[in-house]
Amino acid sequence: MTALRLDGEVLRAIDQTLLPWRERELELTGAADVAEAIRRLAIRGAPLIGVAAGYGVALELARDPGALASACQTMLRARPTAVNLAHAVERVRRAASDVPPGRQAAAALAQARSIHAEEEAASEAIATHGAELLAGRRRILTHCNTGALAAPGRGTALGVLAELASSDQLEQVLVTESRPLLQGARLTVYELRRLGVAHELLVDGAACGVIAGGVVDAVIVGCDRVAANGDLANKVGTYGLALAARAAGIPFVVAGPTSTIDPRCPTGAQIELEERSPEEVRSVSSSAGAVPVTAPGTPCRNPAFDLTPASLITALVTERGVASPVAAESVSRLLPSPARA
Ligand code: MRU
Repeated sequence: MTALRLDGEVLRAIDQTLLPWRERELELTGAADVAEAIRRLAIRGAPLIGVAAGYGVALELARDPGALASACQTMLRARPTAVNLAHAVERVRRAASDVPPGRQAAAALAQARSIHAEEEAASEAIATHGAELLAGRRRILTHCNTGALAAPGRGTALGVLAELASSDQLEQVLVTESRPLLQGARLTVYELRRLGVAHELLVDGAACGVIAGGVVDAVIVGCDRVAANGDLANKVGTYGLALAARAAGIPFVVAGPTSTIDPRCPTGAQIELEERSPEEVRSVSSSAGAVPVTAPGTPCRNPAFDLTPASLITALVTERGVASPVAAESVSRLLPSPARA
């Protein structure tokens, strides 16, 4: 399964809003349509958003050599929380700015391809490190979708679970629905079925009680942004799972590439948490489209992410190794020297 691939001057992406009912590829040709696909979560998951944004800038430059600044702005406005997007846009912008105008499009594309290849390699390394860390934990709960639909290659947290399953070390994955957009129910279940990994789906409200009941040996999630001190922004509902894991005395593990670490955010308090449309709460998606679940116009809050303090995280697994305990010093050691806070 390839969530995203460049095909000549077209970026082909599986439209994740249609899964698991329809497998349809989008054909994206510039910054505006890549940004729109990210905004409506047709392309989603922090590492994948970063890769797509890099290609979005590069494709736009190929069409219009004067569009570097505006293409970067378009991409940066797509979604605010996953820092991979901003990191990728900055890398592509710098690569293009460093060369004469006639070579900018090629330089941007080469940089976007590098980001893609690096994220794919990161997924593989995360799977290896994470499986070592969680060896012996046979029933693991995960949240949202962190697999091959969310990152190039095998994914992050779900890549770790796939690695454990492939070496017969995993009995069962417990999957939260991840309302409002059901990334767990629609996408993680879709991936686990294809991988042949045993799983059960839970409504979000059941997860903490199931953890407290001793049915789960560990919780593993992905990340959208990790602050310099290790605080985590991830899919809404993550904080409650971390509290429940701490109360139950089981590991709460976060997996993600170092491109998700933001040394410019000293703590989680500086991370912008995306607030999305109330319509997403007033309905659920189904094979027949959006189905209302409340009265029309019901006032809603729809934070897409929440913050989990570093103190609740047992380990942060990246392609460059594992930080545990998670704190400013251990997070900083994961970053290449010039990026350290
Ligand atoms: O809103 P989404 O579906 O993009 O949120 C995704 C998550 O919260 C994931 O946990 C995170 O991006 C890591 S994906 C490898």
